[in-house]
Amino acid sequence: MKITNVEFVISAVQPHQYPDDALPEFALAGRSNVGKSSLINRMIMRKGLARTSSQPGKTQQLNYYRVNGQVYLVDFPGYGYAKVSKVQRQQFGTMIETFLSDREPLKMVLLIIDIRHAPSKDDVLMYDWLKHFEIPVCVVTTKADKVPRSQWDKQIKLVKQTLGFQTGDHHVLFSSETGLGRDELWAVINSMIEETSEEAEETAEVSIE
Ligand code: GTP
Ligand code: MG
Repeated sequence: MKITNVEFVISAVQPHQYPDDALPEFALAGRSNVGKSSLINRMIMRKGLARTSSQPGKTQQLNYYRVNGQVYLVDFPGYGYAKVSKVQRQQFGTMIETFLSDREPLKMVLLIIDIRHAPSKDDVLMYDWLKHFEIPVCVVTTKADKVPRSQWDKQIKLVKQTLGFQTGDHHVLFSSETGLGRDELWAVINSMIEETSEEAEETAEVSIE
C-alpha cells in the first residue's frame, strides 16, 4: 500500500475523544514492549511517528493514526507490564474493554505476539475477549528477524496452539526491522475494509426494499 498521508490525530483516554468520522479502525493489542508502535511505524513508513521505547509501558492512551485519510491504526497501551500500578492497570483494562465492547468503527484487532515466546496468559485472555465480542482477529507474530527462519514454523505453531487459533482468523508473520509481512498485513486490512463496506451496502439495499 502506498502511503500518501499519515496524521497523528489524538491520544484518547475517554470515549468522547475518539474520532467521529466513522472511518474503519484497526486496533493493535499486545503485551507491553512486544512491538506494537514499531509495527505501526513500519506499516506507515514513518520511523518515529508512533513513539517506541526499549522501556515497556511507553504507550498509555489510545493513539489514533489516520492513514491516507481512509483508515485508522489505533495503538493500544500494552498489557502485562508489572511496574504499572494496580489502579493504572485497572484503568487500562476498563478503557480497552469499553472500546472493544462498544466501538462501531472497529473492524479488526491485530493481536501482536512475539514470535520468540509462547503467548502469555494475558494474550490468551485478550484473544478470548475478542472472540467473546466477536471481533475479527489477525494474529501478528512479530520480531521474526530475531529467530532463525528454520524455527518460524515451529514458533508459529506454538503461538496458534496456545491461543486456540480458530479457522477464519488471520495470521501474518512480521518484522518491523526488515519489513517482512508489511504488504500482507495491508492486504488483510484492505480486505476487511472491502468486506465491511460491502456488508454496509447490502444492509442499505435491504433497508430500501
Ligand atoms: P508499549 O508501548 O510499551 O506497549 O510497547 P510496544 O509494544 O509499542 O513496543 P515498541 O514498538 O515500543 O518496541 C519495543 C522494543 O522492541 C523496541 O526496542 C523496538 O525497537 C523493538 N522491536 C519492535 N519490533 C521489532 C522487530 O520486529 N524486530 C526487532 N529486532 N526489534 C523490534
Ligand atoms: Mg507502544
